[in-house]
This record gives sequence, structure tokens and C-alpha cells, in this order.
Amino acid sequence: MRRYILAGNWKMHKDAKEAVELVKALIPLVKENKEVDVVVGPPFISIPAVVDAVQGTNIDVAAQNCYWEDSGAFTGEVAPPMLKSSGVKYVIIGHSERRQFFGETDATINKKALALYKHGLVPIICCGELLEEREADKMEQVIETQIRGCLKNLPADKMRETVVAYEPVWAIGTGKVASPAQAQEVHALIRGLLEDLYDKDLAQAVRIQYGGSVKPDNVKELMGQTDIDGALVGGAALKADDFAKIVNFQK
Ligand code: 13P
Repeated sequence: MRRYILAGNWKMHKDAKEAVELVKALIPLVKENKEVDVVVGPPFISIPAVVDAVQGTNIDVAAQNCYWEDSGAFTGEVAPPMLKSSGVKYVIIGHSERRQFFGETDATINKKALALYKHGLVPIICCGELLEEREADKMEQVIETQIRGCLKNLPADKMRETVVAYEPVWAIGTGKVASPAQAQEVHALIRGLLEDLYDKDLAQAVRIQYGGSVKPDNVKELMGQTDIDGALVGGAALKADDFAKIVNFQK
């Protein structure tokens, strides 16, 4: 049985004080929930304060990006060992906003995943097609290219723990959620690719999150799909009440 993983991607929202306020409001609302993994992803600058605030709770912290070198002359970048020593557990890589605005490619995402493994961090690897691609009947091709490119040579023992997030770009921040059937179709496709790249056992173990306009009122139906194992939540993760309802969707 795969354990659900509900993660909030705060994107470029909340300063350090607001970030601590948000996570402190969340802690009591999710603390009884031992059935799912709960993750919050604040901006880099708030990570230490948020890690401090969640000590001893059931909430883990994610970063939203990283570089692939351990250190060096890479102005403005943050290295995996720095994240590790700050208490981060997960790192979101390949988000569509990073692909769109910051030139991230399947090849750089692949390098980042390998770098994260080296430091005992868990990647959340994002993939997803644009609206034009879906409309041109290219969704399958796009997802396959992204998955094969991002997962190239990732060792099976690490891949087993890695999280994949399917985020159709047309559903991000638009209020246009993929229907549970649309999402399930792509999740099954991704699981099939994992089986092809590794084996059935590994494919069944990897958790695949859905992201794109997940809200308290649509989460339950999405999570009810066979191959959906969690959510990567943007807007609704910025309100403690809403994110807690998403985390507690089984209650
Ligand atoms: P929204 O939930 O705001 O659509 O954002 C989804 C997302 O991009 C999470 O990474």
C-alpha cells in the first residue's frame, strides 16, 4: 500500500514571519493525522524558521528547487548539502514554472535528482503537458519524454523512494482541475513507464502526486483514483484551514 503524500508548494509567497505563522496554524490541524505524509515547501529563506517550527511534529519540509553541484561559484544557487543540513527532506524539481521561466530541462532535472540522492534528499520530480500539447494529442508523447529524460539512469533503490508529481500546466493556478479520470489516465501512463524503465514491483511502490487546482472540495475524488497517491498543492496550501482539509481528506 502506498502512503498518501500531501505537499504544499508555497511558491514565492510568505516572508519568514508569515511562513512561521502559516505552519504554526497548520500544526494543530493536522497533528492527529498519522495516515498520510504532510509536507510544506516554503521559499528558501524561510526554510530554517519553518524547520524549527515543525520540530517534533508530523510535518516535513521541502525546498522548491536546488542546484546540482555541492558548492562553487554559482551565484544565487543553493546546493543540496546546504538543504540537507538545514533539515529539508524533500526537494521539488522540474516544476513547470521552473521549466517555463528558468530554463529547466529534463537533463538538468535529471542532474538535480542524482545530486539530491547523493545527500540523502528525496526528489519530487514534476512533469506535465501544456494545453496546446494536450489539444494536439501530444500528451502521452510529452509525458513519456519528460519521464524518460528526468529519470535517466536513476538507480532503482533511490527511485523507489522518489516522488513523481503530475501537474498538467493548464490546471496550475487556473482553477481548471483535471477531472479524476483525466488525471488517473496520466498517472497510469506514468506507472506504466516506471514499469518499463524498472519493474512492476518498483512501479507499484512509487508515489505519484497530482497537482493543479487541488482544493478541499475536489481532493477526495482525485485521491480516490487507483494511481493517485497524493497532491502537490499551490494556492490552497497558503491557507492553513484549506490545506488541513486537503491533508485530512479521509476524515
Ligand atoms: P495550484 O494548486 O495553485 O493550481 O498550483 C499547483 C502547483 O503548481 C503546485 O506545485
